[in-house]
Amino acid sequence: MTVKFYSGEKVPLEMHKVRIIQKLNLLSVDERLKAIKEAGYNTFLLQNKDVFLDMLTDSGVNAMSDRQQAAMLIADDSYAGSESFTRLHNTLQEIFGKQYFLPAHQGRACENILSTVYVKPGSYIPMNYHFTTTHAHITKDGGKVVEIFIDEALNIESDHPFKGNIDIEKLKNLINEVGAENIPFVRMEAGTNLIGGQPFSLENLRDVRKVCDEHGIKIVLDASLLQDNLYFIKVREEACKDMTIREITREISDLCDIIYFSARKLGFGRGGGIITNNEEDMRAMREYITLYEGFLTYGGMSVREIEAIAIGLEETMDEEMISQAPLFIEYMANELLKKGVPVVTPPGGLGCHIDAKAFLSHLPQTEYPAGALTAAIYIASGVRGMERGTMSEARDEHGNETLANMELVRLALPRRVFTLSQVAYTVDRIAWLYENRELIGGLHYVDEPKVLRFFV
Ligand code: F0G
Repeated sequence: MTVKFYSGEKVPLEMHKVRIIQKLNLLSVDERLKAIKEAGYNTFLLQNKDVFLDMLTDSGVNAMSDRQQAAMLIADDSYAGSESFTRLHNTLQEIFGKQYFLPAHQGRACENILSTVYVKPGSYIPMNYHFTTTHAHITKDGGKVVEIFIDEALNIESDHPFKGNIDIEKLKNLINEVGAENIPFVRMEAGTNLIGGQPFSLENLRDVRKVCDEHGIKIVLDASLLQDNLYFIKVREEACKDMTIREITREISDLCDIIYFSARKLGFGRGGGIITNNEEDMRAMREYITLYEGFLTYGGMSVREIEAIAIGLEETMDEEMISQAPLFIEYMANELLKKGVPVVTPPGGLGCHIDAKAFLSHLPQTEYPAGALTAAIYIASGVRGMERGTMSEARDEHGNETLANMELVRLALPRRVFTLSQVAYTVDRIAWLYENRELIGGLHYVDEPKVLRFFV
């Protein structure tokens, strides 16, 4: 929640207390310089012991609650028919109202299965925006990703509340152009990751449904970042103000045929899965779960994590609980803006996103400004962020660089992890760096993997 101080200042207030802590280490600037050089200026290759505040991602690093930890102690460790699986399955059925649940070890494993079953050469997959792993799976199977975002989506400084919406006209045009028979599904990504954790509205999803119904096309929801999207629908969509988070979740679920999620994000745990009400879809995907993931009652997840996710999903239905990250992100973005640092607005979910193209206007995109700024932020602060720009794109079929629509540095705020003073420290260091931005030079690859090159 947010409190208004006597001074009039509005500050986000944590509605939880910290009962387990992890000691942090802040290296000197010389030590940080040495560490980032050894990592080839790639923050993925830093050792965590050399990182002060790890804002690389929210994936698998959200803080667990006492109730989650307690549930992990009573996990039922059996290969088949585990009670832990039944508990998670029941929770998913209760929240989403979908009958079938196929467990998988993480989000991209679900993408592998969806893509294997539904995507073939000549398929078109329309979506509000791609995610790196989604794109890699679809193109590996010969499909083409078509982004049909609204024009406002790429406008960095915006007050549009739902930049994750699909452009309905573009969707209709694409169907006319390529034929509904070549579109196995429309993918809707909650909390659209690569454009700054931006949500879609419930109204937009209803409109997408209408078009898909006319043509018999399925909707697949990537619910990995659903938590933040739910919160934004509740607070930004006038017509949904009086709905509960549970009601919004259920309506979203009813509008989608298949939902998959990374439980490294959704449910404060580690794992993933696919849910649906359609028996035929379930049967088509099921055989690949046993082939790639594990037996149908664990799908590559540990039973302890399965228990934690079941409780985590219940906590996701609590508006006070899920407001923490978006409110901290909003605070961070506003404080950076006050100091002149260009950030994505409106502030989204997942993390605060800095516009590296504007920050480092002296660097061309071919010198990876977002990568360079990410490395510089580590040197200046010990804070580890993530490049979300041209490095995170794949080269085209001729080997040419695909320049990203946006050059962003993502400073993720894993849920319930950082304190407000740690956020304030980060803002202060970045403000200093902004004043001294001409010190920052570009990057080039000395070793470039063919797939998902930004990782290694
Ligand atoms: N979909 C979205 C929207 C994601 O953000 C991610 C992961 C995935 C799918 C894949 O899930 O990692 O469990 O295999 N995002 C992470 C991130 C990697 O840091 O943003 P996964």
